[in-house]
Order: sequence, then C-alpha cells, then structure tokens
Amino acid sequence: MINKFLQFVRDTYRTDGFIPLHAPLFIGNEQKYVAETIESTFVSSVGRFVDEFERRIEDYTGSEKAVATVNGTAALHAALYLAGLKPDDLVITQAVTFVATCNVLYHLGAQPVFVDVAKKSLGLCPIALTEYLETYATMNADDVCIHKKTGQRIRAVVPMHTFGHPVEIDELLGVCLKWNLVLVEDAAESLGSLYKNKHTGTFGAFGALSFNGNKIITTGGGGMVLCSDKTAGKRAKHITTTAKIPHPYEYSHDEAGFNFRLPNLNAALGCAQMENLPAFLTGKRELALKYQQLFKDSEYQFVEEPTYAKSNYWLNAVMCPDTASREHLLKVTNASEVMTRPVWRLMHRLPMFQNAMRGDLSNSEWIEAHLINLPSTPVI
Ligand SMILES: Cc1ncc(COP(=O)(O)O)c(C=O)c1O
Repeated sequence: MINKFLQFVRDTYRTDGFIPLHAPLFIGNEQKYVAETIESTFVSSVGRFVDEFERRIEDYTGSEKAVATVNGTAALHAALYLAGLKPDDLVITQAVTFVATCNVLYHLGAQPVFVDVAKKSLGLCPIALTEYLETYATMNADDVCIHKKTGQRIRAVVPMHTFGHPVEIDELLGVCLKWNLVLVEDAAESLGSLYKNKHTGTFGAFGALSFNGNKIITTGGGGMVLCSDKTAGKRAKHITTTAKIPHPYEYSHDEAGFNFRLPNLNAALGCAQMENLPAFLTGKRELALKYQQLFKDSEYQFVEEPTYAKSNYWLNAVMCPDTASREHLLKVTNASEVMTRPVWRLMHRLPMFQNAMRGDLSNSEWIEAHLINLPSTPVI
C-alpha cells in the first residue's frame, strides 16, 4: 500500500522532487495587487486592501464583521480578550490542536482544561463536554459556571475545526447556553468549511481564521477575527489597532490596545487569494475523493468529512492500523521525500500545559497513535 500511495502522490504532483504537506499557490492577481501596494507606497497600516479583504471575508463567510490581524494567533488572542477572558479563568478546549490555541490562553493569564474530541469530527466532543461539566462544574447564585474543585470561573469553550472538519456546533452551542459559557471558534484551519450550510467561525461569539503560508489561502502571515455582531466588530477593530481615537493628526488612545492590524501589503495578497478560493476548494475536494478511493479496502482508514458538514479538506489524513504501522509509514514516506506528519503532540503532554486539568482523553490519545497527515496541496 505504501508504494501505491507514493506512486499516487508522485503522479498527482508530477515531480520527482520533495513533496510538502501543503504549498501556497499564486495563480491569479497576487503579483498585480501586491505590486499595486508597493507602487502606491501604502504597504503598511493604511491602504484600500485591508478594508477590501475584510469585506471579501464578510461576504464569503456571512460574518457580521471581520477584522484582519497579523496572524491567526493574534486573531484568537483578540477574540478571547473580546470575549471577556480574565486572568485565572478556565477555558475548555481540546488537546488535539496546534499550540497557538493554548498559548493565547496562557498569555491572557487563563488556563486550558482539556476535554476529549469526537472521532467523527476530530474536534471537541459535546458528550465529553457535558460529562466534564456535570462532574466538575456547578452554577453559582449569579449563574456563573464555577469549577467545583478550584472555585475558578469556567468562562469559555474553544473548539477547533481540526484539519477543516467542522465540530458538532449545534450540540456544543446547546451545552454553552446551559452552562452560561462563551463559545469562541478556532477556525484557523477551516476557511471554506460549512456546518449545515453556514460558515465555520460564525456560530460562536467570535471566530478566528489563519492565513499562514500553510493554510488554504495565505497572506504570508495573517488572520481574521469573525465577530457575531457589528458592535463587537467595531470594538475588535478598535482594540486591534492600538485603541486609537480617530483624528486627522492627534494621537490619543482610550484603552490599552494591541497592534494586531494586518499590513496592506499582506491584505493585497489576501484579496487575490480569495478570488482563487473556489478553485482551491474544488481541487481539495477532488484530491480528498481520490485519496478516499486509493485507501478503500486497505488497512488505512481515510478521514472523511463528518456526515453533517462540508469540509474544506485542508489537510488530508488517514488512520493507520496501529502505532508501529504509523511509524513505518512516516519513515518510508519522509525518506522518499514525500512529506507526511503525525498529529501535533497533544497539548497535555507539553511542559507548559502538563498540569492543566483534563477529562478522559482516550479519543485524543487514540488519534495521536493512529493519525497521519498526507500531502494536501490542491492540484489546479
Ligand atoms: C488550530 C490553529 N490555531 C491557531 C493557529 C494560528 O495561526 P497563525 O499561524 O496564523 O498564527 C493555527 C495555524 O497556524 C492553527 O492551525
């Protein structure tokens, strides 16, 4: 099977050279728009492309207000700050994620609590979330969710749409409503993914997208806060742009803000990439279907989108029969210059989060032992 896989990948990408997990594609107006910013000299914090990029993301996702940031981590940081996160708060999230999800909690003085993921979505499991809350949480007289052991406030829930596959959002929203928790979606990987025809990142109070070089579209580095209402959007724009009071020449600020604004240069790239997004999504779906066929009837199980959702298939993945076969596949493919990768080291194994509270993580650990990501650049 491994040789068949290697041959398939080489035939798909038509190269004998190194095949990465994901490479950016610049097939449209990228050079033109970036050159325009250079010619105009507006490469930095002023220029037409930032507003235009935000508008294109709003139109595409249906978000009430989208605010561009320097990267996805900054978008998540701003989103959680705007959600009212305070030092010592607890935030329930998944151990199967990229470290940025937890780093922003750390830098806001909050602590992650890890709850298991569902195998069907690879994202936060609503049943595990309910079980955790019923065992460890209580509502106080002010209707605030409190951790029974530590007395800390459980403020928010941050699910992540792993590799572009949407989590079970309706169910998670139901749990959040019951326990008075804010839902903030880490949608860094899921631009173009839909849950019941609505775009991921637009269900919670806030969502965060990433346009890092390895994502479905890229701005070099960049991100976007998706806000569920215009007032929050206005505030998101304000705090991500140093909380400057608008004035033609006076410089004054009304709170301690962040300098998270996306430069115009990067936004220009983003506008061009948005024009290509439909083609990227089609290419990715076609590739995913081909992988699905390839691994059919083999000992490897291709990870399909959840039945209730439409995934952008950002990163394709298979489940290997066991850890030994996973190691073997990793070794052989990488030695053949075809990049494959295990899932991120689980968050509760990292030194900075190893003492974080957690529920049962059997599914997360099973995924860690079995999953491998495959080359996923769309073929256009
Ligand atoms: C799940 C997740 N969250 C957050 C981020 C952070 O995005 P960025 O790299 O743009 O800061 C990424 C991607 O890099 C990610 O995959």
